[in-house]
Amino acid sequence: MLKLNVNGQEQEIADLDPATPLLWVLRDRLELVGAKYGCGIGQCGACTVLLDGQPIRSCSLSVGQIGSGEIRTIEGLAAGPDQLHPVQEAWIAEDVAQCGYCQAGQIMTATALLEKNPQPTDAEIDRAMAGNLCRCGTYLRIRTAIKKASEKQGQSPEEQNV
Ligand code: FES
Ligand code: FES
Repeated sequence: MLKLNVNGQEQEIADLDPATPLLWVLRDRLELVGAKYGCGIGQCGACTVLLDGQPIRSCSLSVGQIGSGEIRTIEGLAAGPDQLHPVQEAWIAEDVAQCGYCQAGQIMTATALLEKNPQPTDAEIDRAMAGNLCRCGTYLRIRTAIKKASEKQGQSPEEQNV
């Protein structure tokens, strides 16, 4: 029995080879299908989730390597079922997604950036997001949405409701 902490819940998964990539376990065993399979070799970022707040390529990390680390996926980003995370709100406001395939990975990387650096410069955004590829070329809207989420996080709750 392998134990994983996913989105704040302990999951016990039976009959699992510890060499199985995390992405397979998330999608096929836990039905968390937000993270996507793109390249499978750690180069596109479609499978990005957070491990202890750091973006990782879930296609390239085996579950046996995770131990007690906390995994966060896009399904666990918002505070509640009928809510959105500020980064998700900014994504919608800026109409970022095109085909959508890369977007969960983009949002997870952006969230990790803003948690570490709440007011990133354009250069810092570009550097942090460089490993997340988008075949639809939504890069400019991604940058705008990150800046929007950053500005909103810096506002008081009253300002946010204006
Ligand atoms: Fe994991 Fe491309 S699918 S980096
Ligand atoms: Fe289509 Fe990024 S929105 S690959």
